[in-house]
Amino acid sequence: MITPEFWSIPPGSLTPAQLADKTAVLHGRLLDISKRFADVRFATSLAAEDMVMTDTISKANAKIKLFTLATGRLHQETVDMVKTTEDHYGVAIEKVYPKESDVQAFINQYGMNGFYDGEEPKKACCGARKIKPLNAALLGADAWITGQRREQSTTRTELNFEELDDSRGIAKFNPLFDWSEADIWAYIKQENVPIHPLHLKGYPSIGCEPCTRQVKKGEDIRAGRWWWLQSDSKECGLHVNQ
Ligand code: ADX
Ligand code: SF4
Repeated sequence: MITPEFWSIPPGSLTPAQLADKTAVLHGRLLDISKRFADVRFATSLAAEDMVMTDTISKANAKIKLFTLATGRLHQETVDMVKTTEDHYGVAIEKVYPKESDVQAFINQYGMNGFYDGEEPKKACCGARKIKPLNAALLGADAWITGQRREQSTTRTELNFEELDDSRGIAKFNPLFDWSEADIWAYIKQENVPIHPLHLKGYPSIGCEPCTRQVKKGEDIRAGRWWWLQSDSKECGLHVNQ
């Protein structure tokens, strides 16, 4: 049997001087955000980009709170990464859980894994387990931060550093919008950032366990997310203005 070759961590392509410049710009972005807004919150999924953000927030000493959406369907490795990250950086990461009644309503209507049946049930599951909790996590915030990058997906090519989150009426920032995948890994290597163990097993992008799989070498880095759906629906709605 041929073992397919899976995605693996790319070699860093930046010189130390280039990386230092990029990092200085990133620190400046974070300090600027935390000066302009009183209550800033960073959403971490514990995947590579978000670990770079966490490392920078910590090193820049920026006044930014961290939270994660504990959907109830994450890999055990992701759950463990929350504690690893808290211990490593001496920070608290707020775990935001879905409402029991929302999850139950989804299960009653579609079944526990009903999201495999198509677009609508997938949207409903993400709604209950991610979007409503995100709304709750951002109540009272003035601004929020994500680890999104332009290069990640065809739906993110227009991403900017600063956006208006229309639906919540607050600012939203993507400080890594202009970083490449290789930049992310160069930073991680240089700064010895702890990484999610699934990145060592062919997973470039990590979401909920039933909706994420390994990616073959040469495939799109989001090919393992909701692989049974068309590529333009490979978003869970966290970053869609509704
Ligand atoms: S998704 O929309 O397809 O799930 P993706 O995994 O690319 O998003 O992550 C993009 C950004 O969304 C992350 O950098 C992070 O800011 C936020 N995010 C995604 N999943 C979570 C999560 N479970 N908890 C908190 N933030 C998340
Ligand atoms: Fe549900 Fe999958 Fe969305 Fe997670 S990613 S909330 S399991 S549909």
